[in-house]
Amino acid sequence: MANSNRANFESRIGVILASAGSAVGLGNIWRFPYETGQHGGAAFILIYLFCIILLGMPVMISEFLIGRRSRANTAGAYQILAPGTPWRWVGFLGVLTGFLILSYYSVVAGWTLEFVMEAGVNGFAGKTPADFAAAFAEFSKDPFRPLIWLACFLLITHFVVVRGVKKGIEKSAKMMMPMLFILVLVLAGCSISLPGAQAGLNFLLKPDFSKVTADVILGAMGQAFYSLSLGMGCLCTYASYFSKDTNLARTAFNVGAIDTLIAVLAGLIIFPAAFSVGIQPDTGPALIFITLPNVFQQAFHNLPVLSYIFSLMFYVLLALAALTSTISMHEVVTAYLHEEFRLTRKKAAAFVTGGCFVLGVCCSLSLGVWSGFTVGGLTLFDLFDFVTAKIMLPFGGMLICLFVGWYLDRKLVYSEVSNDGSLKVKFFKAYIFLIRYIAPVAIALIFLKEMGNL
Ligand code: TRP
Repeated sequence: MANSNRANFESRIGVILASAGSAVGLGNIWRFPYETGQHGGAAFILIYLFCIILLGMPVMISEFLIGRRSRANTAGAYQILAPGTPWRWVGFLGVLTGFLILSYYSVVAGWTLEFVMEAGVNGFAGKTPADFAAAFAEFSKDPFRPLIWLACFLLITHFVVVRGVKKGIEKSAKMMMPMLFILVLVLAGCSISLPGAQAGLNFLLKPDFSKVTADVILGAMGQAFYSLSLGMGCLCTYASYFSKDTNLARTAFNVGAIDTLIAVLAGLIIFPAAFSVGIQPDTGPALIFITLPNVFQQAFHNLPVLSYIFSLMFYVLLALAALTSTISMHEVVTAYLHEEFRLTRKKAAAFVTGGCFVLGVCCSLSLGVWSGFTVGGLTLFDLFDFVTAKIMLPFGGMLICLFVGWYLDRKLVYSEVSNDGSLKVKFFKAYIFLIRYIAPVAIALIFLKEMGNL
């Protein structure tokens, strides 16, 4: 249901910061460094950059144009642009994916609050690496503590979303994104100046192409889509709040650049520090929650104040980044319930928060007391991650490409990208080529690869 007096983002900078807020998240600061670490460093980053430009940008522009053209939630958008066709299932798939990702993402986001608190009360002081590992295992398996943090995180997200597009989403992004950027810069600066940081810099900046395998390339593509929030209509929903004169291509470029910059800076925080204290870069997902507190302890062992400030700042940063992302996923589902079922925004948001809490509790418990319950060998938490990130997102992304590249009228696409002809779009042919052929095939490859791992 399109609505003519629908909310809009107020300013150009608000548009960019809200969209970048969605993109920048745990994917950049937690997932990107460990993926880079496991895939050999600089060469992975180079391939990742290619993926952002050749695949991420065209898909992002496509999501933007679907959202802005229809001015509706993701599910409504397809019914407006392709009434009476099965394309509406792409929208439903997106809403469902958003709901599922939000449920388990909030669990990890909740952990960041525990670490903010631990860092705040100086709980990391004097611990050994074994202590950190044991403490994290104990915490994540605990049947209560993570649930309390999950509830806190969902409630914070809830209240921002209820406040609405301008006062909630745009305003919070305008406050949080600059803060996040400053924190990342300061932390990267500290990390680079540690003794022995050079080895970490080499790892990040000197590519070794002998390590590039098909797995590395496909890993980089998957990370690009995940990190840019593509494939489920998240940026499509945000674009429905863009104004008529928002330059879609330029916005996509800015969001992609900010997201990539933050990811690379996160790498600059983590690897020099890790190498400086002799921690392997391929430690995997635990890198941030187990090894990093340890890195802070060792790096500044004769300056405990710095170690305190460094770790507190880092986890605050992680929580902020996660928050701007959970807000965007929450908004996808809230906007859908609000517009399609005519619920008030408050009620719609309450359903989403409540539903995600129930699913989130299940995911969280599946790491501890319910770990005996598995589907195909995966705990519920891993299953949610696998099904959404590795099946639903690539599939959704491919369908978005096919929809814009093959279904939508070329004139409509041109008029959206060029703002009714008022902008010169030199790259239009290249964009169409990428969206029709390159992007769908590449995404299909990711998809097939993940299915091969079943
Ligand atoms: N991009 C975010 C991150 O890097 C996560 C995210 C938010 C996301 N919205 C999404 C991922 C939509 C996929 C689809 O953490």
